[in-house]
Amino acid sequence: MTKHVKPEITSPAFKTEILAGLTAARKTISSKWLYDDVGSHLFEAITELDVYYPTRTELSILEKNKQKYARIQGARGAMVELGSGSSRKTNLLLGTFHDLSVYMPVDISANHLKEAADRVRRAYPSLAVIPVTADFTEPLGQLPLLPELPVLVFFPGSTIGNFEKEEASNLLANIKKAMPGATMLVGVDRPKDEDTLIEAYDDKTGVTAAFNQNLLQRINREIGANFNLSAFRHKAVWNRSKSRIEMHLESLSDQKVTVAEQTLTLEEGETIHTENSHKYSEDAFTAIAEDGGWQVQDIDTDPKRHFSVYTLTAE
Ligand code: SAH
Ligand code: AVI
Repeated sequence: MTKHVKPEITSPAFKTEILAGLTAARKTISSKWLYDDVGSHLFEAITELDVYYPTRTELSILEKNKQKYARIQGARGAMVELGSGSSRKTNLLLGTFHDLSVYMPVDISANHLKEAADRVRRAYPSLAVIPVTADFTEPLGQLPLLPELPVLVFFPGSTIGNFEKEEASNLLANIKKAMPGATMLVGVDRPKDEDTLIEAYDDKTGVTAAFNQNLLQRINREIGANFNLSAFRHKAVWNRSKSRIEMHLESLSDQKVTVAEQTLTLEEGETIHTENSHKYSEDAFTAIAEDGGWQVQDIDTDPKRHFSVYTLTAE
């Protein structure tokens, strides 16, 4: 897998945020940093796992409802996709969105984004494909959009679940501010039995563990650190009261690590919290959407009610 990986240009924010997170009382790193080139490929491998139900379930919902989504006004204008990754779900929609003129995938993982955009261009030569490498938690006002085109924001994968509730509402509010009048399709994972959740986030083949541990390797590679990967284990925990799966990297011993010339101390059992993945009921996500200034127009789900795709309108 690593043989296809190209070197990533380190974002200046990476070092600052990693050091702030690792020197805090409870060590935490934003999940957005999981996605360097290696991490993006590992995430794709996760989506192929039988136990990782979100991808295939969301794909089935999109497939079933694609004609309806094609009738959304923005499907005849510009589609802006947030956290587009491989654009696999987009490819499914684009086959039905015959009148779309612009596709703007936005992602923090530069090489992966470029490769995905090239694939879409080859498949849909008449579509203007404009990839934007950006952190979508930063102001979105600079997106190069044409004011006369209606916009459909596509935000699949339950990436919105990787934010705390308040952050999620703020992000939705920022999207509305940058693209007033847009319609949004957003994928949201739902609460379900704990065994299914833990299997999805702690697969026996160790792909999710490798995805999580790659963060330590990335820190070693990009800002000079000496994390020993075998001194940490991947841990997936269901936090019932917050309705979220948490990913952590647990220190297996008392140890010292040097990161960008700073010495950190970790105790045995101490964790670095690397991701939250919230699972929202319809009431919970509707409240978040409304706090962000959006109305829920439609909710599509699968027969097992494992995942949902919301249609949100800004009016
Ligand atoms: N949409 C795809 C990929 C989901 S994985 C799917 O549904 O399968 C989450 C994606 O969001 C990754 O491609 C990651 O690089 C991107 N991402 C995560 N945080 C981001 C941020 N703050 N800004 C931009 N992209 C981000
Ligand atoms: C991208 N995001 C919504 C995934 C999730 O399920 O929270 C990332 C992931 N983490 C572990 N497995 C997949």
